[in-house]
Amino acid sequence: MQSAQVTWHPHSVTRQDREQLNGHRGCVVWFTGLSGCGKSTVANLVERMLFARGIHSFLLDGDNVRHSLNPSPAMLAEYGEDFARRFGLGFGAEDRQENIRRVGAVAELFASAGLITLSAFVSPYKADRLAVRKLVEERGAKGDFIEVFVDAPLEVCESRDPKGLYKKARAGELKNFTGIDDPYESPVTPELHLAAGTASAEVLAKEVLAYLQNSMKIPSDSDFGG
Ligand code: ADX
Repeated sequence: MQSAQVTWHPHSVTRQDREQLNGHRGCVVWFTGLSGCGKSTVANLVERMLFARGIHSFLLDGDNVRHSLNPSPAMLAEYGEDFARRFGLGFGAEDRQENIRRVGAVAELFASAGLITLSAFVSPYKADRLAVRKLVEERGAKGDFIEVFVDAPLEVCESRDPKGLYKKARAGELKNFTGIDDPYESPVTPELHLAAGTASAEVLAKEVLAYLQNSMKIPSDSDFGG
């Protein structure tokens, strides 16, 4: 996308320089799935495994990002009503689109900084996920966006209900709740499809690690003498 007002400046330290320094590639590992499916749990376990191997990573987590970069209108009240309405984000389709657009741009920057960038957002809309994929692959290369479908059936997520939100949604106290009165568009051809209703988070995290190794994003364990 071109703009008449701003010019793109090339960086003197390139992504390739950073990747060489780090000894691994930068990429985006995009976890998607219903609330309570285990996205954050698996992503955290993967990050622990990466850290133990000396690999540089960062996790962008939906709940945390909605406390900082993408707060609700109510959280921006101190800036005035107009500002809060304009920049605050809720859970309508357009607000989710903007949430994922902003976070996708941040994830792309982190990947360019040479990090294994993990993200855990419900990201229910195919088009929004595809837009992030396009951005990441345009700025980097094909294969730099790894979509991980954390697939746990709604009944399982609802029975876990770690934050009590399903209960509230069923009671009608929470509107537009994904899986209840808002859609979730499952990925059709994700790079990884995790059976999160049955397998343990540890097993799933190892699957993700193996994918990163097999696709040469990170060194294999044998390179560490393991
Ligand atoms: S996304 O749809 O825009 O990608 P995001 O991942 O940032 O959502 O935030 C989802 C988290 O917000 C859920 O894990 C849940 O804790 C909370 N949440 C609050 N309201 C909703 C809602 N209406 N739908 C889904 N998640 C919600």
